[in-house]
Amino acid sequence: MIRTLVKDALAAAAPIDALLLQGWVRTRRDAKGFSFIELNDGSGLKGIQIIAPATLPNYATEIARAHTGAALEVRGRLVASQGQGQKWEVVADAITVVGEADATYPLQKKGHTLEFLREIAHLRPRSNLFGAVFRVRSRLAYAIHQFFQQKGFVYVQTPIITASDCEGAGELFRVTTLDPVRPPLAAEGGADFQQDFFGRKAYLTVSGQLEAEIFACALSNVYTFGPTFRAENSNTSRHAAEFWMIEPEMAFCDLRGNMDLAEEFVKHLVRDAREHCAADLEFFGRLVDKELSARLDFVLERPFQRCPYTEAIEILGRAGRSWEHPVQWGENLQSEHERYLAEEHFKCPVTVFDYPRQLKPFYMRVNDDGRTVRAMDLLVPGIGEIIGGSQREERLAVLRENMAQHQLSEKDYWWYLDLRRYGTVPHAGFGLGFERLLMFVTGVGNIRDVIPFARTPGSAEF
Ligand code: 4AD
Ligand code: MG
Repeated sequence: MIRTLVKDALAAAAPIDALLLQGWVRTRRDAKGFSFIELNDGSGLKGIQIIAPATLPNYATEIARAHTGAALEVRGRLVASQGQGQKWEVVADAITVVGEADATYPLQKKGHTLEFLREIAHLRPRSNLFGAVFRVRSRLAYAIHQFFQQKGFVYVQTPIITASDCEGAGELFRVTTLDPVRPPLAAEGGADFQQDFFGRKAYLTVSGQLEAEIFACALSNVYTFGPTFRAENSNTSRHAAEFWMIEPEMAFCDLRGNMDLAEEFVKHLVRDAREHCAADLEFFGRLVDKELSARLDFVLERPFQRCPYTEAIEILGRAGRSWEHPVQWGENLQSEHERYLAEEHFKCPVTVFDYPRQLKPFYMRVNDDGRTVRAMDLLVPGIGEIIGGSQREERLAVLRENMAQHQLSEKDYWWYLDLRRYGTVPHAGFGLGFERLLMFVTGVGNIRDVIPFARTPGSAEF
C-alpha cells in the first residue's frame, strides 16, 4: 500500500476504505476501549486523529505505551470524525510501532521556550512552530527560483571559496590547510600563505556579487542563491555567521530598475507565501505575531516608499528622539534609525538610496555630486534592512580611483577591471538576506529560528 500524507488525508473529499499513514505521535489519550493518537508527519501543521481500538492485538503491549515522539505506521479507514475540531479521523486496523520514544523525549506537549528549542535543534523541526518555519522556508526557496526563471534570469552558482573581500568589511573566515601550530613562515614574518592550499590567502565568500557581475556581463540577467559567511562578531537577533543570500545582477540596468525589481520580488514572495503556506501563516499570526497578517496585506497593497539618504537624515534629525547612535550626514544608519523610518515615519517598506560614498564598498557607482553613490537598502518594519544593493561603477577610470581610495590592489581584481575594459555596460543588482525575508514573512523575531542550524558567535552545535 502506498503511503498517504497526513495533509492529503485531511483534505480528502470522501471517506477512504484503506490507507497507510506514517508519522510521529504528538499526543496519546486513552479512553475506555480505545486510545486517541494525534499523528503528525510534517506534511502540514495539523496532525490527524487516529482511533486505536483496544481490540488490536498489540494494543496493551505496544500502542498503549507509545509515548509522544514514537514513530508509527497506521493502516486503517478514513471516516468522518465524530468529534469536534476535525472533519476526518482514522480508525486503525493495524498499528506498528516503528520506533519507540520513552518519557525522556524532550519535546512534550507543553509549550517550550525558543531558547530551549535551539538547544535541541535536532528535535525542534518536530514542533509545530519549526515545522511551519521550515515548510515556509522550503516553499519560498522554490518561489525564488520560479520568480527569476519566469523572467528569464539565469541561475549562476558562484564559488564559496574566494580570494576577494567583496564588501571590504574584513569579516572573512579564512580557509586554510596550513598547520595551525607550525605554519611555514614567510620572509617578512607570519604564515606563508603562498604555501597554503590555493597558493594564496583564501576565504569563505561574503557575497557572490563580483562573480555574478561576470555572468551578467555575458548572459544579461542572472541570479545566485547560496550560502554566505561573515565573521561579524555581533550577537544580534538579525545576524548569522552563515546565512543564505539571493543576488540578482542585471546588465543594462540602473538603480531605478534595481529598486523596481527588488519591490516586485519581495511582493511576489509575500504573495506566494500567503497563497501556498496559508495554514502556517495563520499559525504565526495566532502564536507569534498578531499583527502579521495586517502587515503582509499592507506590503502587498501599497507601493514601497523611496527616500534619498540625505532626506532620511533630515527626517531622523527632526524626529525629536534621543538616538543611541548620532544622526549625522556621513554616518551609517543604525538599526534604530532604519526601524524608525520603516515603522514610524513611512509605516511601510522604504528604499533608502544614494548613500555617502565613504560608507559603501568600492564597486558602487559614484553620483555626479562626487559625495554619494548609487546604493540602495530596502528597510522593512520589524527588521530594518533586508536588501542591500547598488548600481555598479562601470567606468574604468572611476572604478580604479575607487579602488585606490579603498586601498585595493588592481593586481587582485584584474578580472573585475577587465569587465570595464571589454564591453562595459551600466549594471546593477542587490542581495536579499533569505533569513531576514523569512523573519519578515513569519514574524519570527530571531534569525536563529528561521535557519535549520544557526551559526553564530560561540555556537556551531549540530
Ligand atoms: O548589504 P549586503 O552586505 O550586500 C551585499 O553583500 C551585496 N554584495 C549584495 C549585492 O549587491 N549583490 O548584504 C545583503 C543582505 C542584507 O541586506 C541582509 O539582508 C543580508 O544580506 N545580510 C545578513 N543576513 C544575516 N546575517 C548577516 N550577518 C547578514 N549580513 C547581511
Ligand atoms: Mg547592507
